[in-house]
Amino acid sequence: MLGTSVTTAPEWAHLKDEAKAFSGKHLRELFAQEPTRIKNLIFAAPNLSIDFSRQRINSDLLEKLVSLARTRQLPEAITSMFSGRKINNTENRSVLHTALRMPKSESLVIDGQDVVPLVHDVLDQMRRFATQIRSGDWLGATGKPIKHVVNIGIGGSDLGPVMASEALKPYCIPSIEFHFVSNVDAADLAAVLSKIEPEQTLFIVASKTFTTQETMLNATSAREYLLKTVSANADELVAKHFVALSTNSKKVTEFGISPENMFGFWDWVGGRYSMDSAIGLSTMIAIGPENFSELLSGFHEMDKHFASTPLEQNVPALLGLIGLWNRSLLGISSVAVLPYDQNLKRFPAYLQQLIMESNGKSVTRDGLPVEVETGAIYWGEPGTNGQHSFYQLIHQGTSVVACDILYPAKTNAPIKTHHDVLISNAIGQAAVLAFGRTEQELRDNGVSENLIPHKVMPGNRPTTLITFTQLTPRVLGSLVSLYEHMVFVQGVIWGINSFDQWGVELGKELANAIAPYLANQDEVSTFDSATANSIREYRKSK
Ligand code: F6P
Repeated sequence: MLGTSVTTAPEWAHLKDEAKAFSGKHLRELFAQEPTRIKNLIFAAPNLSIDFSRQRINSDLLEKLVSLARTRQLPEAITSMFSGRKINNTENRSVLHTALRMPKSESLVIDGQDVVPLVHDVLDQMRRFATQIRSGDWLGATGKPIKHVVNIGIGGSDLGPVMASEALKPYCIPSIEFHFVSNVDAADLAAVLSKIEPEQTLFIVASKTFTTQETMLNATSAREYLLKTVSANADELVAKHFVALSTNSKKVTEFGISPENMFGFWDWVGGRYSMDSAIGLSTMIAIGPENFSELLSGFHEMDKHFASTPLEQNVPALLGLIGLWNRSLLGISSVAVLPYDQNLKRFPAYLQQLIMESNGKSVTRDGLPVEVETGAIYWGEPGTNGQHSFYQLIHQGTSVVACDILYPAKTNAPIKTHHDVLISNAIGQAAVLAFGRTEQELRDNGVSENLIPHKVMPGNRPTTLITFTQLTPRVLGSLVSLYEHMVFVQGVIWGINSFDQWGVELGKELANAIAPYLANQDEVSTFDSATANSIREYRKSK
């Protein structure tokens, strides 16, 4: 995989000229110039349809972007990832989240070992356990079945399970309540503890490393709470009410969780790529093993599409290329993710980690300056709520925000005409974002001259529509896999490593260094003056 800046590609200078030309073109003009745009720029992917017609591109440009991808050796990089080459070069690791969803019948040998049976052993262990919890056969230390599942984890050990628990709510078992604790702010844990019945609660401690400060403190406090509130033998309590999802069996054992209550995974699964690994245990308990298999199938179908479809029709590749065009060539720094499906309300938060922790980098794989703008800022809220909040800025603000609008044809909550109303908003907003409203149109509609400048809608906001039949486990798998591969495509073309996260380390180090000084009165002059002052002020007022 290339570790040079994308600017070294012979296509780059030409694409910069194209960007200048496209910056002066409105989507209205692009639609007029390419009457077959709808046909040319809508693509089918497994379980999803993607409409790029409202992006500031045309078919010729897409071909040029594909050519850039070839020069940047995207096809070779895809092969490297799927075959388990150690493409995470700063951590010397393979990147094999795609192996988590390979069927039992396939095999993938890494360092002399077939990883597919390993994956399926853990899936089988998860299935047995999930079935026991769901059926009520697993009893707590006082002989009662489980009514509450609390996932304690943060980042990739939280965001995927939270997002899935919302997205797949209609598939969740009604007799069990699912809770998530991530923040080290005790308010998060306290809120959950106030809702549960400890005798009937399963705590899932989810941490790839099992060293993450927030998770370990929350898990320790939860264990203390359990021991305090339920009168039973301490070992029995931990054995019946605590399980661990981790790669670190030593730390899990030290915490007091026995190996049979640990569900493992491997260093080749990145935290933000782990919702379909053992980290998905709460999801499997919620939706059941069969629906979890459906979720995995959705992932796998998109993986196959990505691995084997020519770039011209390869939807994750095109999504990545268009995102890169917007970010690095048109200078659009922000992408709003706007699901018109309430159950996808945590999807923007999920994507934030996936995309921003992966591609928020300024050096290439070889440590050279990237020389272009990389990782866009992702954010968002369910569509109609956003309309009454921040869409004003998207429509008429001075910065251009690209938008991903997602919606299903069929709702999981069929009440009266709600769904048609919802989707009319999605389609209507996409039209306004693309085409806006001109001065002339306002004048023709009799709008008074003094209001015209205020009512002009510039449009030309690049928007992708991602649609699907209904939000099922299979569709969700394909959707997540689509974005995972989009991230990969952009990383490859920029020449960066999308699979490390060194930028989060220094903050952790400093928090650990500062923590003791908040509790004692020791001299803090070894810290910089601003930090020392903040510590002193906190100590005075706490
Ligand atoms: O701090 C960032 C990070 O390392 C993420 O990449 C990861 O998902 C999260 O922390 C949690 O890590 P762990 O699963 O090891 O507790």
